[in-house]
Amino acid sequence: MATTDPKHRGTWNSKIGFILAAAGSAVGLGNIWGFPTQVADNGGAAFILIYLICCFIIGFPVMVAELTIGRKTQKNPVGAFKALSNGNPFVPLIGYWGVLCGVMILSFYVVISGWTLAYVFEELFYFFNYDAAAAYVGDLGNGVKNSIFTLFFMILTVLVVTGGVSKGIERATKLLMPVLIGILLILIVYIFTLEGAREGIVMYFRPDFSTINPDLLLSAMGQAFFSLSLGMGALITYGSYLNKNQNIVESAAYVTIFDVGIAVIAGLLVIPAMYVAQAGGVNIMDPVTGALHSSTTLVFDVLPEMFHNVGGLIGLLLGVTFFLLLGLAALTSSISLLEVPVSYVIDEHGLKRKKAAWIVGGLVGIVSVVVSFELGLIDIFVSIFNEVGLPLGGLMICLFLGYFWKGENALLEMENGNEGVSNSSFSKIWIIFIKFISPILIAIVLFTTIWGLIKS
Ligand code: PFF
Repeated sequence: MATTDPKHRGTWNSKIGFILAAAGSAVGLGNIWGFPTQVADNGGAAFILIYLICCFIIGFPVMVAELTIGRKTQKNPVGAFKALSNGNPFVPLIGYWGVLCGVMILSFYVVISGWTLAYVFEELFYFFNYDAAAAYVGDLGNGVKNSIFTLFFMILTVLVVTGGVSKGIERATKLLMPVLIGILLILIVYIFTLEGAREGIVMYFRPDFSTINPDLLLSAMGQAFFSLSLGMGALITYGSYLNKNQNIVESAAYVTIFDVGIAVIAGLLVIPAMYVAQAGGVNIMDPVTGALHSSTTLVFDVLPEMFHNVGGLIGLLLGVTFFLLLGLAALTSSISLLEVPVSYVIDEHGLKRKKAAWIVGGLVGIVSVVVSFELGLIDIFVSIFNEVGLPLGGLMICLFLGYFWKGENALLEMENGNEGVSNSSFSKIWIIFIKFISPILIAIVLFTTIWGLIKS
């Protein structure tokens, strides 16, 4: 089997470049769309609190573990687990599971990302009174139109990945992340001036602790894994391009804080925007169940209606920038989803990066065209690969590191760029989390999720 020389795999050019790339992977549809709608659905600030706990006590230790495994082995997830397996044939399965999850999550992620691009055009067509064209691009159920936007988005993703680690991924995320934050802040400031926004802010920060139940804990943990890009080896892959003088613990802390921060800030945009829509006469609750509309309806029905109500050039600018924001956030995440199988094909099968990116992108593109026509697959894929797949991957990573590779060896790797970490109180606490607290919590949540799926 061919393996590439680690020296030719590429590395991040700078510390900030890596942090932005990893944060770019983390900040995506999960933050700007998933998180705010989950908050609105699950008791406002009570959900935020539980989510923060999940990110910091489960997500952060797993992120440190993934980055450490990646940097130690300088390989893709399959190669990384093989390298540390001592010949045990089961250990590399963790990596194969990660690659499969990456491929399957990417196959629906690009469909939703394609919708965000389509809605940039919807807003433009609406503004210029091309009503038929606006209705065409805004129709989420149109498979042909979905496929066109999906494949366009996939090509963008492939183009960045073909550029390589520093010239493609790092350069793109370094440029896109500040733009994304700028757009987010401008939109928030404007939305705050509109009628109804205040009600949304109050609702966002009002905790309703009566809503805390096992389901809410499940949602918060699933959301934390997805949002932090954990459990499928994306951060093993990104960690494999880290050089030895980077402080892994510090970098993971920055990425976690950045991701959580953007999610909380995105809530300040999306939730007030929903209430602005309501103040403008748009229905944000399901008239039958009284529950908030699903996230898809909220983002692709309620918000565009609100932008249309604002009207004129401001309405157009708001709509276009909002959907561009979503698209950019999705792009910096989709490149990390694609990079996982691409790095596997490059490392383990000796393909050149360009060829690997186009072949893997093409194959996933075929699946995503099927998803474009059969949208019901999205829920199925989310259940299997996202809600179960990522926590399962996280659980296996914790067990592998804690009991097979052993914490001492991981700490030895972490010493590079963080001298003295093995004797610090951080390391003692981290080991306890990786060996006991995180896997136990993940296992409880995971089995309850699987049980719920079987029952439903
Ligand atoms: N973190 C991304 C989001 O919040 O949209 C999704 C994601 C990217 C999940 C990369 C997993 C991953 F490996």
